[in-house]
Amino acid sequence: MLSRKTEDYLEAIYNIIEKKGYARVKDIALELKVSPPSVTEMMKKLSNKGFIVYEKYSGITLTNKGRKIARGVKRRHVIFEDFLNIILVPKDIANRDACTMEHHLDPKTIEQFSKFVEFVKSAPISPKWLEHFKEYCKTGKYKCERREF
Ligand code: FE2
Repeated sequence: MLSRKTEDYLEAIYNIIEKKGYARVKDIALELKVSPPSVTEMMKKLSNKGFIVYEKYSGITLTNKGRKIARGVKRRHVIFEDFLNIILVPKDIANRDACTMEHHLDPKTIEQFSKFVEFVKSAPISPKWLEHFKEYCKTGKYKCERREF
């Protein structure tokens, strides 16, 4: 199992490359709020493990192996961020906490989160219980009789 740090770096590099086509040490430092020297050190480790190609002057790219891991982390991030949005966690907190949740959970738990998010997002009409939940968050009261739930 990879460390959270490794996964976070690969995810950050993936996001930066998606945005601007390549990643540099300073982009990664900004994205992860760490110092450039610590990014440089981590780039050497990731490069030794075959996750990235690190050329000092031409930027950082992901290898196939690195990209595969980064995509997996990103996929989990989106699932948890969507879930947190559904339960009305403010956007900035949802984004930050998705980054905590995307590591270390059992694949089965992640699969169920994913199914839940899919279930809510692909509902043909906005689910009634979700409206009730919104109301409940605002007022602390049920909007309806229990049997209508
Ligand atoms: Fe993340």
